[in-house]
Amino acid sequence: MSEPSNTGVDFYAEALETPLNSQTESILRPLSLDEFVGQDKTIERLRIMTGAARKRKEPLNHILLSGPPGLGKTSLSFILGSEMGTNVRVTSGPVIEKASDLAGMLTNLQEGDILFIDEIHRLPKTVEEYLYSAMEDYRIDIMIDQGPNARSVRLNIPRFTLVGATTRSGLLTAPLRSRFTLQTRLDYYTPEHLLSIVERSCKLLDIPVDTAGGKEIANRSRGTPRIANNLVYFARDYTEERGDGMITQKSAHDALELLGIDHHGLDEIDKRILSTLALTYKGGPVGLKTIAVAVGEESDTLEEVHEPFLIQNGFIQRTPQGRIISSKGYQAIGLVDTKD
Ligand SMILES: Nc1ncnc2c1ncn2[C@@H]1O[C@H](COP(=O)(O)OP(=O)(O)OP(=O)(O)O)[C@@H](O)[C@H]1O
Ligand SMILES: [Mg+2]
Repeated sequence: MSEPSNTGVDFYAEALETPLNSQTESILRPLSLDEFVGQDKTIERLRIMTGAARKRKEPLNHILLSGPPGLGKTSLSFILGSEMGTNVRVTSGPVIEKASDLAGMLTNLQEGDILFIDEIHRLPKTVEEYLYSAMEDYRIDIMIDQGPNARSVRLNIPRFTLVGATTRSGLLTAPLRSRFTLQTRLDYYTPEHLLSIVERSCKLLDIPVDTAGGKEIANRSRGTPRIANNLVYFARDYTEERGDGMITQKSAHDALELLGIDHHGLDEIDKRILSTLALTYKGGPVGLKTIAVAVGEESDTLEEVHEPFLIQNGFIQRTPQGRIISSKGYQAIGLVDTKD
């Protein structure tokens, strides 16, 4: 196979960054723990916590959800709200710039409300420290005024639940992490679970699909429901234009080929990463930043979107010296590992 072209779009990163328009998004979001497909361990843990909190008539304890993008962290936070019958207020780490932003948000909560902080690893450190006492003692002491007039004011806040979400749990500080009663990680979905998700989405959106067509999409969704839903959309457009409106194995296959997604679920950027490792750096080890420059993508995107999938599926390995390609990685781009 020739070296992948440099013209492909980073389909996965784009799909993950541009959620479906909000109306469709709200049709597709699972609304209860029962409706949520897969992630059995996490769901069981959340069932126990919500059940116990409801019986005690107490707010849920703080929960940290981690895992790659598009696996359902935001959906779960809304599900927790509906299971507990409380409001969910949504914000994200980089939006909370100052302690006063946090104080404003916390004092506006009602008892039992869920505050969902997405990308919590990007919360400024100065703000993070205020969160400790808020989570533990439901109060924050903030400084007002400056110089000789400076004084600290204590604000009591309603007992709330913090649900934090992060794609990079390794970047969270130990003090913050330890204040979550439950830390649970979402993993890539199995092809079987993805097939259920694809079938569920098609049903909700009235898109005809047969089992083989559903499987074709599920197998190429790199374990990620948000990608599966985006592929469903593209496959629907494709079959309406080129087929008879029914998503079949053939029409799904042809649609996904057109997007440059291969049977492993690898896109152009994945293949560019592999060929940079194999051809430019003779298999590695290579640092992530070097790879990022070579493929023309942000190193954060590589680390959050591409690398976890490539590593978990054995295409590349991470070593202290850098990333190296595996035999399976060579095969995926039509090359043979000379070490074999
Ligand atoms: N278990 C599931 N069952 C059915 N659909 C799901 C499931 N998990 C996620 N989805 C679908 O995938 C989409 C993405 O999920 P969600 O926005 O919750 O992911 P996320 O983990 O918050 O992603 P990000 O880290 O990018 O914010 C949702 O619109 C939802 O329709
Ligand atoms: Mg989200």
